[in-house]
Amino acid sequence: MDKAWAKNTMDRILTKLEKTMPEIGASFPHACVDDKYDNMHASCWTNGFWPGTLWLAYQYSKNEAFANTAKEIEEKLDEVIDGFYKLDHDVGFIWQLSAGPNYKFFKNEESKLRMLKVASVLASRFNLKGNFIQAWNHQLGWAIVDCTMNLPILCWASSETENPRYRYFAEAFAKTVANHFVREDGSVNHILSFDPDTGELIESIGGQGNAPDSAWSRGASWALYGLPLMYRHSGDKEFLTAAKKVAHFFIANLPEDFVAHWDFRVPRNEDTPRDTSATACAACGLLEIAKYVPEAEKEIYETAAKRMLVSLTDNYSNLDNNKQCILTHGTSHCPENQNVNVGLIYADYFYVEGISRLLGNEDIFWYAQDRTNI
Ligand code: GLY
Repeated sequence: MDKAWAKNTMDRILTKLEKTMPEIGASFPHACVDDKYDNMHASCWTNGFWPGTLWLAYQYSKNEAFANTAKEIEEKLDEVIDGFYKLDHDVGFIWQLSAGPNYKFFKNEESKLRMLKVASVLASRFNLKGNFIQAWNHQLGWAIVDCTMNLPILCWASSETENPRYRYFAEAFAKTVANHFVREDGSVNHILSFDPDTGELIESIGGQGNAPDSAWSRGASWALYGLPLMYRHSGDKEFLTAAKKVAHFFIANLPEDFVAHWDFRVPRNEDTPRDTSATACAACGLLEIAKYVPEAEKEIYETAAKRMLVSLTDNYSNLDNNKQCILTHGTSHCPENQNVNVGLIYADYFYVEGISRLLGNEDIFWYAQDRTNI
């Protein structure tokens, strides 16, 4: 597999997005159950992934139509910032991928302001006693591994304002992820409950995984990708070491076609749901890890990532049909039987990012400062 394959795949993605963008428009797609994406409420945690996908398409093609629709979505999201009460830890996912590229490409001051506002909200959720960021608004002591991917917006805020305090919160939470969410064998807890007053760790909660001690594959992918990003933003090798541990567990537990089941610790047969979103996110994380390891180790991570992206393309994509989602077989919440084996907008986003990475894109939207050599 070479750059020509990646270029051809990106061109096929672009052709698909040229068709689906006018259909989906400036809406909030999350799941594509039959042929069409749904349209969520404005505060849904997934609302950055469609504009993020359009920004990746713009970055590759320079077609202004993609940027214009992404900008329209960004403006529609202002009601959530203005309304305040529905903001939670997922502000990173939402604004890093919507306002972030608009600021990156166009230096749009309003986009910068949106990001600074939500980064301040995220920083305010840090619990000093327990060194965690509170995930949702009603469980004061709950932190979730997904939040590892929300940390780059704090690192961005630090590099933008030259004030390190945002990054210190991100680093402290990443240490909690490395030390408590990531288990000895490289599998990952989804939810950890802490006493919000004393900061004492109470228990692991199953959340979107099968059980408190199971291995939800998307949770693993959030750590697998979030931790090397935190290594990039901090230069702290502990994050890279933890990311590699998760990566080895993830790769070792993949089935023959290299596309993860929804939980690595459930009995598997041909009906066990897959999760292409975990797979695509993990592929991006593996390519990120490969940037920081010695030459001799790179191949482990790059080869696995490429096999995952090729399998997603060959066995789980809708590149040549009329369905709106790019990938099939994403699983959102299996224990609650919500959106199982369907198209998911974040699966699409990470898949397009993965292909863009294979083309050598060094300007990924999660990047702020590179502190690996500081
Ligand atoms: N952040 C929620 C999920 O991964 O489904």
